[in-house]
Amino acid sequence: MSTYAVTGVAGFIGSSVAEQLLSEGHSVIGIDNLNDAYDVRLKCWRLERMQHCSRMRFHRADVSDRKQVEAVFEENGPVDAVLNLAARAGVRASVENPHAYVETNVTGTLNLLDACRTRGIGKFVLASTSSVYGSCNTPPYREDDVTDRPCSPYAATKKAAEALCHSYHHLYGIDVTVLRYFSVYGPAGRPDMSPFRFVQWISEGRPVTVYGDGTQLRDFTYVTDVARGTVASAGLKGWQVLNLGGGCPVPLHELIGAVEQEVGRRAIIVRQPGHAADPRATHADYGRAQEQLSWEPLVPFREGVRNIVAWYQANRDWARTIVTD
Ligand SMILES: NC(=O)c1ccc[n+]([C@@H]2O[C@H](COP(=O)([O-])OP(=O)(O)OC[C@H]3O[C@@H](n4cnc5c(N)ncnc54)[C@H](O)[C@@H]3O)[C@@H](O)[C@H]2O)c1
Repeated sequence: MSTYAVTGVAGFIGSSVAEQLLSEGHSVIGIDNLNDAYDVRLKCWRLERMQHCSRMRFHRADVSDRKQVEAVFEENGPVDAVLNLAARAGVRASVENPHAYVETNVTGTLNLLDACRTRGIGKFVLASTSSVYGSCNTPPYREDDVTDRPCSPYAATKKAAEALCHSYHHLYGIDVTVLRYFSVYGPAGRPDMSPFRFVQWISEGRPVTVYGDGTQLRDFTYVTDVARGTVASAGLKGWQVLNLGGGCPVPLHELIGAVEQEVGRRAIIVRQPGHAADPRATHADYGRAQEQLSWEPLVPFREGVRNIVAWYQANRDWARTIVTD
């Protein structure tokens, strides 16, 4: 059994990755600063699900603070791999607050890579994003498409983190897997993303704000599928860049239709102009992940939406008060 440092462990995807590792019998050193980029109750809810496990050790620490990162690694014994999922993650919010994105996504990644260098940790996994493909490629996106024209500070910081990872692989021989996730969705998701919002808004009879005409395509990928691919990727050697995406994009209005059916209520749609930082489409070619990890998405879109609605209904007393606009 191995020991993994998982950053962003209270986050939507990081918590699912940690749960998968714990269920396989591994130990997890979980790191998160529990910032208030969105409602902290969601982060605490996810953490509580793992607290019972003695193989999970949680540290409230900021990855952008080098001393705090060093202290966490100093306090724990040897680590087999670092899975870096901590990030400032919203595309539109990065336009408003780009400095916070550089601190966590770039400096934070550098601090963790450097901890690997100084402590001889041989494996690093970076959670990157389909946003690095910008708007200059033809979907489905492949890993060797153009990624040097990011359309948001968020995408730019993730591209910078990927580049730092490559330099640490090149200089110090650290095995690195860069995973580009595509529109991850599932229960207890991020309240700044459309699946959470649409479920809350339609359930509560609130207006559903749609940016653009609703035909934009999103390659929704279920969170446990992403977690499974992330854990599997920790076993890869050398330098690898892999898309983890559902491969079957749906227009946003289809997501709204699916939520309407599961909730049993019609949406009151309010249209707003599209945002220049939002991609027109996300669509993965996941052939490389299939080849390297035997990975493929398993959870069908409708089942994923049903699971979100079921989670929302079970947690409605507090989930309805989460700020989503
Ligand atoms: N959700 C998606 O659709 C998606 C798509 C592409 C890529 N990603 C990437 O996947 C990763 C996880 O995303 P998520 O959706 O779970 O987001 P999330 O915001 O739910 O999780 C990120 C976690 O990192 C923590 N964090 C942020 N800054 C930190 C810091 N300085 N120090 C320590 N912890 C910090 C936050 O508190 C949060 O719990 C991110 O790297 C994100 O960029 C997500």
